[in-house]
Amino acid sequence: MAANKKLLILPGDGIGPEVMVQVRRIVDWFDKRRTVGFDILEYPVGGAAYDRHGTPLTDEALSEAMEADAVLLGAVGGPQYDTVPRDKRPEAGLLRLRKEMDLFANLRPALVFDALVDASTLKREVVEGLDILILRELTAGVYFGEPRGIETLADGTRRAIDTQSYSEEEIRRVAEVGFELARKRGNRLHSVEKANVMESGVFWREVVTALHAERFHDVELHHMYADNCAMQLVRKPKQFDVIVTDNLFGDILSDCAAMLTGSLGMLPSASLGTEDETGRRRAMYEPVHGSAPDIAGKDMANPLATILSFAMMLRYSFGLGEDADLVEQAVQNALAAGCRTRDIVGPGMEPVSTTQMGDAVLAELDRLAA
Ligand code: IPM
Ligand code: MG
Repeated sequence: MAANKKLLILPGDGIGPEVMVQVRRIVDWFDKRRTVGFDILEYPVGGAAYDRHGTPLTDEALSEAMEADAVLLGAVGGPQYDTVPRDKRPEAGLLRLRKEMDLFANLRPALVFDALVDASTLKREVVEGLDILILRELTAGVYFGEPRGIETLADGTRRAIDTQSYSEEEIRRVAEVGFELARKRGNRLHSVEKANVMESGVFWREVVTALHAERFHDVELHHMYADNCAMQLVRKPKQFDVIVTDNLFGDILSDCAAMLTGSLGMLPSASLGTEDETGRRRAMYEPVHGSAPDIAGKDMANPLATILSFAMMLRYSFGLGEDADLVEQAVQNALAAGCRTRDIVGPGMEPVSTTQMGDAVLAELDRLAA
């Protein structure tokens, strides 16, 4: 049997810890039944770490993240931290993890499960069978650009500054992942920016076009403005296969794409770094949804986005595609059997709890593996 995988779990805030409990049960299931074993470490992150240690990410947790084979994160944030200085806010811990681990490629698939077609706010024919992938650049752009800040001018008035900045290499490496992913899927890539108003958009388009000509001319490439992309996502989402875009547009467009699937509670994500000489790459997996403080602690949250994030980990970090398929199939079966948390419940259905959703996925895993 291969050596155990080192898995760092960061449950975080709000619904993070309770959805993570369900994922732990699934991890244990694999630990017991399958060929992959895990050594698990758990640390607080975000508000939970701030409350305990006065920082949203301790150096110890960060160094474990750098060493881990994969990191699984719940969610961070909550209204009680709104007045905390920005560098100590829960989100700062998450951003530091992304930056220090150099997780530049953020994969956010939006897949409509058959059983959930009617949970979408869009018409059945618009979303049925939808399978698109948003690739968000995650370590540059306005999230990290300098200078930034709020300053007082000579006349006593104030102004705020953020900086959108992209180097050629930052664009190139994420575009490369986009082309490679497209080749393994529908062979179509939409590169999204605002070249009509932003210098970084003009440059983004130039770099992607050059890379396409150089190494990926077999892939169908389209350029699209971000505002049009938002509109096209709700008008005719099936025209897309892979969308590659910057950090901020990717944040916005992935929320939009998530809702096509019926609920933000369904969308997993993988954030990947570059491969080293041994083929190993740093990776963090997290649901696209936030900490949902309004329903935290009530056993109401949908654990599927985090469970599906674990499936992505099996696929992308450990090369266990069949095991990933198994988790995804178990989720699909649980949904098909009518198991729905409150966010995806249909008319005339009784919502299940977070724990019951975990029970249902485990029962399906048992059935599939029998
Ligand atoms: C996301 C979230 C984060 C982001 C927040 C929590 C900092 O919205 O992962 O999409 O803006 O990147
Ligand atoms: Mg977001």
